[in-house]
Amino acid sequence: MSKKRIVVLTGAGVSAESGISTFRDSGGLWEKYDISEVATPEAWERNQDLVTEFYNQRRKQLYEVEPNAAHYALVKLEEKYDVQIITQNVDDLHERAGSKNVMHLHGELKKVRSSVDEDLVYELDGWEVKKGDTCEKGSQLRPHVVWFGEPVPMIPPAAELCSTADILLIIGTSLNVYPAAGLVGYSPPGCPVYLIDPAEVNVSHIPGVKIIREKAGKGTAQLVDKLLDHS
Ligand code: APR
Repeated sequence: MSKKRIVVLTGAGVSAESGISTFRDSGGLWEKYDISEVATPEAWERNQDLVTEFYNQRRKQLYEVEPNAAHYALVKLEEKYDVQIITQNVDDLHERAGSKNVMHLHGELKKVRSSVDEDLVYELDGWEVKKGDTCEKGSQLRPHVVWFGEPVPMIPPAAELCSTADILLIIGTSLNVYPAAGLVGYSPPGCPVYLIDPAEVNVSHIPGVKIIREKAGKGTAQLVDKLLDHS
């Protein structure tokens, strides 16, 4: 018999206990930085050095942190389920924990790409991109992330994946950013949906959602134990 499919939508909160700041909590990244200065195509046009430095710092931090109990619990879930992770995060902590199927909606910090040809994507060796680091067509390398105002090319395959879910888990996202937040609407009618977050999240568009008011580490480990027992 084929395994049931669990689709997991994760956001910054799943990596918070690893020491990576979320975006919209108090003390979050968007309190310290102006989105329009570092995370838009216009910011890149205006000041490539500032944008490059912002992502260099994010990438440097990524080398200093480790996956946490939430990332590992999702790996354990693969013992009995076909687990498909759709993450809004640009970190690689799901992969480092050992999850097999990880789709990045908003790009990946450890990759860069040409600023004239989006198909020229490169894996970086270290954390730093310098001014003058160029693609084979001679353009400055830009972060391989989706900025505000840019299309999100992974939405169609992510929506398709959600439509095949037997169970949907949502972990550590404020569900403020579309189109990512709209993905939950693609899960089949009657599909059980669980949401793990220590704070209140607006779930008015998710009928019947079961809310687990815990941090990701504890909440995910508990839910995974329950799902493994009940499968
Ligand atoms: N465990 C679980 N959830 C947590 C934890 C934790 N330890 N700490 C905080 N959270 C929750 C917050 O309560 C909040 O609901 O994580 C959520 C983080 O929300 P955001 O900061 O808005 O992050 P996210 O939803 O991932 O943002 C989406 O916005 O700026 C963009 O591109 C960026 O991918 C990002 C997108």
